[in-house]
Amino acid sequence: MTSEIRVLESEDDLIAAANLFRTAMVGFPPLSNLQPGQISKLLEAGRTVGAFVGGQLVGTADAVTSGLTLPGGAIVGHAAVSHIGVLPSFTRKGIATALMDHQLHDVAARGEAVATLRASEATIYERYGYGVASSSQTVEVQTARAAVRPGVGTGAPVRLLDPAQTWDVLPRIYAQNRPSRAGTIDRPEVWWQGLRLRTESSSGPAYVAVSGEAGSESGFTRYRPVDTEKWFISDQRTIVVEDFFAPTTDAYLGLMRFLLGLDLVDRVMFWMLPVDDPLPWLLVDRRAMRISAVHDETWLRVVDAHKALAARRYADDGVVTVGVNDPLLQKNSVTFTIAGGGAEPTNRHAELRVGVEGLAAVLLGGATWCGLAVAGLADADDPAALGVADRLFAVADAPYAGFFF
Ligand SMILES: CC(C)(COP(=O)(O)OP(=O)(O)OC[C@H]1O[C@@H](n2cnc3c(N)ncnc32)[C@H](O)[C@@H]1OP(=O)(O)O)[C@@H](O)C(=O)NCCC(=O)NCCS
Repeated sequence: MTSEIRVLESEDDLIAAANLFRTAMVGFPPLSNLQPGQISKLLEAGRTVGAFVGGQLVGTADAVTSGLTLPGGAIVGHAAVSHIGVLPSFTRKGIATALMDHQLHDVAARGEAVATLRASEATIYERYGYGVASSSQTVEVQTARAAVRPGVGTGAPVRLLDPAQTWDVLPRIYAQNRPSRAGTIDRPEVWWQGLRLRTESSSGPAYVAVSGEAGSESGFTRYRPVDTEKWFISDQRTIVVEDFFAPTTDAYLGLMRFLLGLDLVDRVMFWMLPVDDPLPWLLVDRRAMRISAVHDETWLRVVDAHKALAARRYADDGVVTVGVNDPLLQKNSVTFTIAGGGAEPTNRHAELRVGVEGLAAVLLGGATWCGLAVAGLADADDPAALGVADRLFAVADAPYAGFFF
């Protein structure tokens, strides 16, 4: 089906797009109580597109301008993509494909190296060149068993934050303490505004605690109790930790001790921790914690392979030539020589071949070339080349963003 794709500018169009996305998601109610002008604080100007059929808005997608950290610490231009939805009566007619195509060309025209998103289903985005570049884990801790090993530091002092200060203080703490871990993303102002709207329009209690001295805080956590109907007498009082931003050891220990030590609370459920989080090593009884799920976190699309591969650091002094295939963005279909000193295009024969979705999976070090080859997502003339590539692409810390958008 032919659709016309255009950038949405007016307040009415942006609200219609937001509600279209919510209709497509089935489980989200329409936006309510929006103040005049508020929608433009929740969406970045110029980055929401709509698909029209016969003048009717039937699909939408948007993006936010951000930065993403690559292995070695370089931050590259990054489009954080979200709100992709097509009206149920118009699905499977190529509308999402047209939106993705338009958006990826726009991201390329803006000079951004990568796009990332969070996926509602794992079967949608590979066809557009996205691959899973980082994962996170959901962890439950039984506080009664969660004694910390003797000798573990106390960490930074922690205090509850006055709710009125939250939306000024948290963005400052995040920006001042941006981690160097690969996969880290900026948290643009429109996301803070969206989080604020969701927090303030939900009726239950929610708390924010910060670590470090006032004015030079190093981390924060946002948490709330769940299933509170029988809270007074329950023996399963549970808090959900929605955000755990602890980029230094001091912040980590302070905030972790604070959460595990909360009176009344039997269970702490961390929504998203890095897959290499040190928590099991802190506990005398490591079975006090249980990993209840591991989720794909960052779905990454390499939009400019040269920029992304050149900005990344490599961990070994081997050399390998990698041929990338990108059917949608042809200028990425290039062979690169990758060595300890960096990556550059070459005319040499490619020892390894990979689709752009496979390149996305290994870019941050969250997947291995050997693993991709087993799945048929990469292939090599000589399997030894896979080992050379894995040593080059290895990272010390698992890639992680820690934020859902
Ligand atoms: C996901 C969604 C945007 C796809 O829109 P769409 O217009 O139907 O997609 P298209 O018609 O362009 O489909 C392109 C291809 O993807 C496939 N596809 C699309 N959605 C899929 C899904 N949810 N699961 C599996 N395959 C899917 C189609 O079968 C088609 O395959 P083909 O090219 O082999 O024929 C739409 O189903 C939707 O709005 N879903 C609910 C909201 C949602 O989940 N949004 C994503 C938030 S991250």
